[in-house]
Amino acid sequence: MTEREQEGLALFVQTGCTACHYGPTLGGNSYATLGAQEPYVTNDVGRYAVTGEEADMHVFKVPSLRNVAVTGPYLHDGSVPTMESMVQLMVRHQLGKELSSEQVDTMVIFLRSLTGELPADYTAAPELPLAE
Ligand code: HEC
Repeated sequence: MTEREQEGLALFVQTGCTACHYGPTLGGNSYATLGAQEPYVTNDVGRYAVTGEEADMHVFKVPSLRNVAVTGPYLHDGSVPTMESMVQLMVRHQLGKELSSEQVDTMVIFLRSLTGELPADYTAAPELPLAE
């Protein structure tokens, strides 16, 4: 990792993103309220639609951040087009904090480092059994 990517990782941890996006996949392990600290306006009731429990209102699956740079647009409804605006939104609505735009850019540089290459044999033509 480059120095800037490491700075971004440190910010990611210090700001508190790992409260939800944790583990080797940086997410995908739990559910959380969208707007945990500051209410976020969305018409989607989230998990409430499945459970009918009031506590699940606007609760969504915490997505993995692996390959996040290439999986936009973001959120359950694809309403957020860029990683910068996505990070700003998370800082404010999930954590109730403020970061400078330079800090946001640094965090985005870290998030871009999570893009992996698929192993070549993942997409190679399979070896099929010979027909009799
Ligand atoms: C309280 C839990 C929580 C915290 C803290 C949190 N997130 Fe999230 N994050 C979520 C949830 C839930 C979603 C999905 C919401 C949805 O689908 O509408 C999400 C979505 C995202 C997405 C969009 C991924 C996609 O594929 O749509 C990014 C990027 C992201 N978070 C980054 C961050 C960053 C960076 C931080 C720290 C500044 C952070 N998150 C802090 C819960 C959290």
